[in-house]
Amino acid sequence: GLPAKVTIYEVGPRDGLQNEKAVVPVDVKSAFVTRLADAGLRTIETTSFVHPEWVPQLADAEDLLDVLPRSPDLRYPVLVPNEKGLDRALANGVTEIAIFGSATETFARRNLNRTVDESIAMFAPVVERARAEGVWVRAYVSMVCGDPWEGDVPVERVVSVASRMMDLGCSQLSLGDTIGVGTPGHVTALIEALDAAGIGPDRLAVHFHDTYGQALANTLAALRAGVTVVDASAGGLGGCPFAGSATGNLPTEDLVWMLNGLGVDTGVDLDKLVATSRWMASHLGRPSPSRVVQALSPA
Ligand code: HMG
Ligand code: MG
Repeated sequence: GLPAKVTIYEVGPRDGLQNEKAVVPVDVKSAFVTRLADAGLRTIETTSFVHPEWVPQLADAEDLLDVLPRSPDLRYPVLVPNEKGLDRALANGVTEIAIFGSATETFARRNLNRTVDESIAMFAPVVERARAEGVWVRAYVSMVCGDPWEGDVPVERVVSVASRMMDLGCSQLSLGDTIGVGTPGHVTALIEALDAAGIGPDRLAVHFHDTYGQALANTLAALRAGVTVVDASAGGLGGCPFAGSATGNLPTEDLVWMLNGLGVDTGVDLDKLVATSRWMASHLGRPSPSRVVQALSPA
């Protein structure tokens, strides 16, 4: 069966804009987040409190949070890799964070300048302090289906890293197919293995990049396996600057089109969302790669 309702975890402002060559001005970012909220998205990952030289595109995290409109029914999670990032997030009133680890050693080094063990040691005090402050914590694990340097990533390896991160005290695990190589059977096997290890689908989210055009098929497999939180990026923006082969995430519009057709509630107004992605595409100077945005745009 399928869930009656899916929670879309919108990552466009973070995963999308972290990958743009040109830094998008704060007022455009703020308008983007505001328009996404107006289109009905309720969880919007807005930025990252990472090293500003590693991701200059998001070096304006403080300035953005300063101007974003707040509302009790809007959640603005941010990425936080370490205690320095947590200090910055807490100083800016953040109440939801995401730590982000890797199933593989190569990506842990390239993305976090740490081994897998060292990165988990870096996250431990972040999660502990965040929880003590009442902050909700998500854990991402990247490279869950494959890695551009190491190739296939065994399911057991993902389960092991995910379990260690969840044991720190995280509330949700987002499975990142960073380079989009996964296929539906792999996704189902991964979700079943996590369930067997005590991480049930009620605590999972899926995070598919659409590099190989598999993101929607993988999402449907995850929904059938009991997952109800799906990450997506408006207009299909995104990628990862530390994994060159990654393209954008599953476009939010493509996800909403499929879920509308399946009768699954998302709370999202597709027309407003498409208008937002077309507006953003005009700022970025190139068309959205989303098939649904293209199909719903006047010729
Ligand atoms: P490092 O160089 O090892 O940092 O970077 P360090 O701990 O050695 O500190 C060096 C200096 O950086 C110190 O300053 C720190 O204060 C400063 P100094 O004392 O020398 O003057 N520093 C910071 N400044 C501001 N904010 C901070 C911060 N941390 C240290 N948070 C580090 C380690 C983790 C910081 C770095 O590797 C980093 O920022 N990485 C982030 C990479 C990133 O954002 N990647 C993209 C997101 S992940 C992704 O996209 C995948 C995902 O979408 C899921 C999927 O698709 O799979 C989530
Ligand atoms: Mg990603």
